[in-house]
Amino acid sequence: MEPVKVGLLGLGTVGGGVVNVLQRNASEISRRAGREIRVTHAVARTLDKDRICGVNDIELSTDAHALVNHPDIDIIAELIGGTELSKELVLTAIENGKHIVTANKALIAIHGNEIFEAAQNKGVMVAFEAAVAGGIPIIKTLREGLTGNRIEWLAGIINGTGNFILTEMRDKGRDFADVLKEAQALGYAEADPAFDIDGTDAAHKLTILASIAFGIPLQYEKVYKEGIDKITREDVFYAEQFGYRIKHLGIAKDTEVGIELRVHPTLIPERRLIANVDGVMNAVLVKGDAVGPTLQYGAGAGADPTASAVVADIVDVVRVLTTDPENRVPHLAFQADSLSETPIAAMGDIKTAYYLRMDAVERPGVLAEVTGIFAEGGISIEAIRQQEPAEGAGFVPIVFLTYIVREQAMNEAISLIEALDSINGTVTRIRVEHLG
Ligand code: HSE
Repeated sequence: MEPVKVGLLGLGTVGGGVVNVLQRNASEISRRAGREIRVTHAVARTLDKDRICGVNDIELSTDAHALVNHPDIDIIAELIGGTELSKELVLTAIENGKHIVTANKALIAIHGNEIFEAAQNKGVMVAFEAAVAGGIPIIKTLREGLTGNRIEWLAGIINGTGNFILTEMRDKGRDFADVLKEAQALGYAEADPAFDIDGTDAAHKLTILASIAFGIPLQYEKVYKEGIDKITREDVFYAEQFGYRIKHLGIAKDTEVGIELRVHPTLIPERRLIANVDGVMNAVLVKGDAVGPTLQYGAGAGADPTASAVVADIVDVVRVLTTDPENRVPHLAFQADSLSETPIAAMGDIKTAYYLRMDAVERPGVLAEVTGIFAEGGISIEAIRQQEPAEGAGFVPIVFLTYIVREQAMNEAISLIEALDSINGTVTRIRVEHLG
C-alpha cells in the first residue's frame, strides 16, 4: 500500500519531535498502523536554522498555504500554535478533504466547535490528543476508555511549565524569572509564556477536557482563571504546616447548579498522589461513577512527550482512513447532535473549602472580630494559626482553613474582613480541594 503522506505545519520543538519519533520508531509504527507513515513536506518560519531533527527526506518551505492546498498530502499536522493563521490553515485543509492532527489547545478551545462542524461536513478527522497534558493519553482515556461512565469531576495539573516553576521554587528556592527562562530553553513554555503563568494555557486545556467529560460544547470564555503568579513562598510554607501542597489545578465538576469550570492555585492534602506530581509532569484525576477515581500521570510538555501524542493521533487517523465517518469516535466523545446545554456554574455558586491569610494588628479582640464575621456568614473554621511576624512588620500573619462554604458567602466575609481597621491590606484566599 502507498505510504500515508503527512505535511507538518511547524518544525520547532513539537514538529522536530514528531519527525524524530516517526523516524526512530518507523517499523513499529507502520506495523501498528498497517501503512508506512511518511513526513513528506514541512513548513517552517525560516529554512536556514539548526533543528532537533534530520530533514533530508522532507521538502521544506515557508509557504503554509501551499502545504494545506497540496494535492498529495493526506494528513496535516498543525503545530504552529496561535488562533488566527492556524484556524485559517486548518479550515482550508479540511475544505481540501485533509485530516488534521493538532497540538493547539488554544485553537481547539476557542474555535473547536466551528472546526469540528466543518470537519464533520467534509467527513474528515480532527485529532488533538497533544493539546492536553502533553504525552498523557487523557483524551483517548476520557473519550474511549471511560465511555461507560458518568463523569462526576476531574482535576488536573495540566500546565507543565507552571508546575516546573512551582516545584523548583519550593524545592530549591530558585527565583521565578530564572526558572521560567529554563522552562523556555527546555521547550516547555508557550510562545507567549504569560499563558503558562496566568492560567490561560490551563484554561484552554480544561475547556477541552470538560467538553469531552460532560458532552457540552467548548466554552473557553466561561472558565474562571487565576494563575501561579498569586502564589507566595509564605503560602507554600504555611500550607505545608497544615499538611497541604499548593498546586495549580484545572477543575471541572458536574454539580446541581451547573458545571464548574475553574483553574486556580489549590491546596491539596499532601497524602494525595496528585499533590506529589512535580516538575514538568502533569496528572489528571478523573472520577467516574462506575470506575471510581483514576489518575493518569506523565510529562506535560517537551518535544518527545508531545510528539508521542501527535504520532498516536496520526496512527489513529491512518487506521480509520477507510472507515465510514459516521462510525468514527466523535470529536467531543458525544455525538455532535447530542451535546447538552447544561449551564456553566457561576463562581459565586461553587462550594469549596478555603485557606485564608491576613495581616492583623497584634491586640486583644482582633481574632474575635474576624471570627465574628465568619460566624455571621455561616463559615465554619477548621484550623487557625498565628504565624511569626516578619521582623519590624508591625502585623502578625494569621492563617485560617475553613470548611466547605459557598463562594459568594466567602466573598462577602472577605470584604468585611478587609474593611476592619485591625486588618492590613487584602486577604489572600486559596481554594482547598480534598479530592477524596
Ligand atoms: N506550555 C505548555 C505547558 C506546553 O507547559 O504545559 C504543553 O501544552
